[in-house]
Amino acid sequence: MKMIITGGAGFIGSNFVQHMVNKYPDYQVINLDLLTYAGNLENLKPVEEKPNYKFIKGDIADRGFIFNLFEKEKPDMVVNFAAESHVDRSIADPECFVRTNVMGTTTLLDACRSYGIKRYHQVSTDEVYGDLPLDRPDLFFTEETPLHTSSPYSSSKASADLFVLAYHRTYGLPVTVSRCSNNYGPYHFPEKLIPLIISRALADEELPVYGKGENVRDWLHVADHCQAIDLIIHNGREGEVYNIGGHNERTNLEVVKTILKALDKPESLIRFVTDRPGHDMRYAIDPTKIETELGWKPRYHFDTGIAQTIQWYLDHQDWWKNILSGEYSNYFDKMYASRL
Ligand code: NAD
Ligand code: DAU
Repeated sequence: MKMIITGGAGFIGSNFVQHMVNKYPDYQVINLDLLTYAGNLENLKPVEEKPNYKFIKGDIADRGFIFNLFEKEKPDMVVNFAAESHVDRSIADPECFVRTNVMGTTTLLDACRSYGIKRYHQVSTDEVYGDLPLDRPDLFFTEETPLHTSSPYSSSKASADLFVLAYHRTYGLPVTVSRCSNNYGPYHFPEKLIPLIISRALADEELPVYGKGENVRDWLHVADHCQAIDLIIHNGREGEVYNIGGHNERTNLEVVKTILKALDKPESLIRFVTDRPGHDMRYAIDPTKIETELGWKPRYHFDTGIAQTIQWYLDHQDWWKNILSGEYSNYFDKMYASRL
């Protein structure tokens, strides 16, 4: 089995590459990543010397490059994590979200059609369903929930999903799609809420909470997401969508306060700032389909997972301090100037 995993130098992709390389020594794993600001080869240190692992730098939206790669490698499977993934960046500058998330996906689909493939898996997101109201805790996203996006990011991901499913129906391409809730865990890039709060709290810096902090996210440990994708690519039915989530809903304020308590830092660091435009109120996944069809169950409860994650950030300060001091260093001042 030869797999191309795209976006394997990012947060979830690098966790998945490590998972696959270690669990399936007889699989050849090719990590294809453009190494944008979010890609970091440090995330692959634990597997970089393994004989079944190879890294290739490249752009999923570069048609010539992708077709040459498929001609040379003739992969059996493609798992597409590569994306622009941050909602706030998509609001500031949507164009590269269209290029990578939509055109990158269709480029990969065309290469899969041309060279034949046993499975193409699209890593999507619960954000394609839009949001749920705070006063209806009985409502959850199922695979039948209509797509109803809010941000340029979620619109680009929904668009990509539609292309993937259309290539199945029209051309019979063997595809699957997964839509997961918010991930947390090791190698989470420090522009996202949890690692941003951990790194800033450790430096006794103000902690920006959008609006009133009452928005709800459904947090899943990245290892549980990787295990779910492993099950889908091996046992999932072609043409199907699988939601992934573990019923760990928390308000943003609860998450921030949990981190502050664990780090023994004062709540006075919290600063309520101008809200994200179009901010989704609540995400909540109904994972019945993947649980009943594929026997998936999350291993982590949020309380233990977040404690381990905070410890990982304490133990790997060089990893995130390197990011904060590099090309990313001006990001916070630029992105948050108009909010503070
Ligand atoms: P990330 O931003 O940490 O990583 C994205 C990776 O893609 C980076 O390594 C980057 O270099 C690479 N990349 C970007 N453009 C590329 C291109 N044109 N060609 C090749 N590589 C490119 O993202 P993440 O948080 O790990 O998310 C991975 C995937 O999972 C995304 O598709 C995202 O939509 C989806 N997802 C994320 C979450 C979450 O909570 N983070 C939840 C559900 C789904
Ligand atoms: O639901 C899955 C999605 O989760 C993925 O598809 C996205 O790729 C991923 O980035 C994530 O999107 P969110 O927008 O939910 O994640 P983020 O960490 O940016 O924000 C989480 C919540 O915290 C959200 O309600 C906005 C809020 N927030 C975020 C930041 C960065 C703040 O209050 N302050 C902040 O500084």
